[in-house]
Amino acid sequence: MTPELQDLFAFLRFPSISTDSRNAGDVRACAGWLIEKLTGMGLETSLRETERHPIVVAKNTPRPDRKTVLIYGHYDVQPVDPLNLWTTPPFEPEIRGGKVWARGSTDNKGQMLAHVLGVEKTLKEKGDLPVNLIFLFEGEEEIGSPNLAPFLRANLDLLKCDVIAVSDTGMVAPGVPTLGYGLRGISCCEVTLRGPARDLHSGLFGGAVANPATALSRLITSLHDEEGRILIDGFYDDVKPLEDWEREMWSKVPGVSDADFLKVTGSPGLHGEAGYTSAERTWARPTAEVNGIGGGYQGEGSKTVLPAEAFAKFSFRLVPNQDPGKIMEQVQAHFDKHCPPGVTLTCEVGHDGKPYHADPKSAFGLAAPRALKAAFHAEPVLIREGGSIPIVQAFREILGADTLLLGLALSDAQIHSPDENFPVENFEAGIRLNQALLEELAK
Ligand code: BES
Ligand code: ZN
Repeated sequence: MTPELQDLFAFLRFPSISTDSRNAGDVRACAGWLIEKLTGMGLETSLRETERHPIVVAKNTPRPDRKTVLIYGHYDVQPVDPLNLWTTPPFEPEIRGGKVWARGSTDNKGQMLAHVLGVEKTLKEKGDLPVNLIFLFEGEEEIGSPNLAPFLRANLDLLKCDVIAVSDTGMVAPGVPTLGYGLRGISCCEVTLRGPARDLHSGLFGGAVANPATALSRLITSLHDEEGRILIDGFYDDVKPLEDWEREMWSKVPGVSDADFLKVTGSPGLHGEAGYTSAERTWARPTAEVNGIGGGYQGEGSKTVLPAEAFAKFSFRLVPNQDPGKIMEQVQAHFDKHCPPGVTLTCEVGHDGKPYHADPKSAFGLAAPRALKAAFHAEPVLIREGGSIPIVQAFREILGADTLLLGLALSDAQIHSPDENFPVENFEAGIRLNQALLEELAK
């Protein structure tokens, strides 16, 4: 095994699950491993405490005549359940069929470490980097980066930069280098509907008392019309319409046809807002999704019960120029208006993040495809992303710098799912990409 893959395996063995407090020690140990790696490369490295998981910052010695590039990544990962669906244990990385299989292999340890190892290689080969470099790695991305924006505000001098690079997004198809110039934002909440004081016998009381599970179903269906449009008042007011040139450009992007979406999702059919392709629906249109639903009897067989309550977890993916706070107010007004009679509703607001949209034709925006081309020996494509990285818009607002999204995640990488994987080929390309990128951004 190459020393690079050995490093990746060591990094992947930490179960750095940020959402689960039982893994707080593992998250910290993982940050410690990074500190050691970066210090060993000769960078000035520090661990920064937050209210929860630490941030890692590493820099070379800055020189006033060079541009400053900040590379962001996250070393925390998503939970692993359902564990029984993993072919091999999630924190025991293994190579099969040219891919590394482990939680975090793509999202985001593999992509992030490629940047670290690219820098290590350049330092070994050339003794120096062409730019002033800042590595900023956090352990809370998967829980909405609650402590990172305050950290940016408190460390403006430390983090001052000309441009930011992130590899934590998608690549449309193997071998097709992909530059993202947009991300969706997000707003989350959890709704609970409460009915009777306790679960009731559904024969004695069913028909006379409102059923919270039925009421919740009605509330959920009130969110969309038959055409897949969202029925929340004002929801589309600030949506920036898709540009003709984007639709034209995206229609030629490989790997994202409706047929590709069917294949990669294993879904029996596609569904979404009428008048848009799957790529357009996910990259440039907002959504209302149920992420979880519950209430009533969940055990084996049947139980004739009328549940006392039912809940659903919602997330709304947002596009430029929707504002998460404003959307959440509209969502709550919608729920209040459409809550069926006979139940009470509470809505707990969760984390959020703003959408992001940059100009792909800016000077840095044009440098990135040159680096992608050099690393992959193929013509790059330009896309927006359906996923969210909430800190990216905060980078622009707080640090005043735009972010280049250099994605290495394939659509079958199974990020957030069992059997997450990352092709060794992408890992190696990521190392080359880092080297080419710093060269191009220095120009
Ligand atoms: N790396 C993903 C986001 C991503 C993946 C963007 C693929 C584009 C393509 C990131 O780690 C992630 O999962 N983000 C969360 C953010 C949320 C928890 C606030 C998301 O999008 O659900
Ligand atoms: Zn993720």
